[in-house]
Amino acid sequence: MKTLIRGADVVFSDRVAAVNILIEDGSIIDCDAAADTQADEIIDAAGLYLIPGVIDDQVHFRDPGLTHKEDLHTGSRACAKGGITTFLEMPNTKPPTITLDALDEKLAVAADKCMVNFGFYIGATPDNVEVLKSARRTPGIKIFIGSSTGNLLVDQQAALERIFGETDLPICAHCEDESTVHANAERLGGGSKVSDHSLIRDHKAALIATQRAVDLADRHNHRFHVLHVSTAEEVEFLRTSSDLITAEACPHHLLFNVNDYDRLGSLVQMNPSIKNPEDNSALWAGLLDGTIQVIATDHAPHTLEEKAQPYPQSPSGLPAVENSLALILNEVNQGRCSLQQVVSWMCEAPAKVWSINKKGRIATGYDADLVLIDMNREQQVLNEDQVTKSGWTPWHGVTLKGWPVRTLVGGRTVYNNGTFNESVRGTEATYR
Ligand code: DOR
Repeated sequence: MKTLIRGADVVFSDRVAAVNILIEDGSIIDCDAAADTQADEIIDAAGLYLIPGVIDDQVHFRDPGLTHKEDLHTGSRACAKGGITTFLEMPNTKPPTITLDALDEKLAVAADKCMVNFGFYIGATPDNVEVLKSARRTPGIKIFIGSSTGNLLVDQQAALERIFGETDLPICAHCEDESTVHANAERLGGGSKVSDHSLIRDHKAALIATQRAVDLADRHNHRFHVLHVSTAEEVEFLRTSSDLITAEACPHHLLFNVNDYDRLGSLVQMNPSIKNPEDNSALWAGLLDGTIQVIATDHAPHTLEEKAQPYPQSPSGLPAVENSLALILNEVNQGRCSLQQVVSWMCEAPAKVWSINKKGRIATGYDADLVLIDMNREQQVLNEDQVTKSGWTPWHGVTLKGWPVRTLVGGRTVYNNGTFNESVRGTEATYR
């Protein structure tokens, strides 16, 4: 089966060019095909940009165990709509992904249910280092150095030394210092209003844990990725970190701050917490100067009923996969960054960080995971349009300019202007 994408402005790593892209059997086979090339399917894309599919390296899809919030089918369908063609999912499901059997089971369910490509982290516990050493079908190891949703936590130094010292897979971590968080919570009597969340999970908690993890990575010469950086202090610290370290920012930490609690309440309650306007600016500066390489969502759906509980019972997390690309394209239209930078942060860098084979770039021999975007399209984000099972978004009512309009996974259109091709299935990502 051959598909020709004709007339788009194609965003390559080093240039943007008006060329025709030829796909055969799921792979890109020609990046400069003649306009009259014979193909089974011709996609006329004049006026649109073509970018590599987004790789979201941090999502929580709740399958198994908490599928009333999301499952692998609904989560991956939301990805297809948002221009995400590969997701890497976190281990804090029920049961958690802390054994090889649990990992294999997730992969089998995903092959059946997922409309985009997938990968799953193996979760660290204080005593599963042998599992972490033998895991193969995974991008890497996830450590909750600070606790969040679920019960995964490794904060004992001896256990962390073993994990960094004895394993080979790249490691990523949720970095919030447990004892700082507990001391802050105690001082505030547990907290009574949602804005207390940012005082409990404060700047210091994030910085201490990030410094601790980076120290472990450096001493053990281990590849390490700092998930969801949220503070100016972490950006400053990471600016001079070694080549072993990469880092990530999320749309909610880039675009929300403590001033949004009044309007949005627990809808913007996240771990790490949202911080101050100066932190928003520092995170953008970190992306622009290369200190932070990746943008990912930390998509973490909870139902509105769960969110409506009073703080601190309200759970932390917000859904984002179907809007993350549009949110950042809107910033391109505001002049904050370029389309090529977005492709670097959301496509190329995550493929590089996790050594994913044949993804993240438009190049001959790469997988035909592709997204057509319309940089002129203005559209309001509305709860009623969300396809995540949780059915809401903290960006309800916001108008964004610049939207994904068509998504291809392995050369097949999975989403086109509001219509899904329910028969498309993604495949398991593989790693070098
Ligand atoms: O707010 C969060 N929610 N942060 C995390 O790291 C986990 C996530 C979840 O799974 O709900």
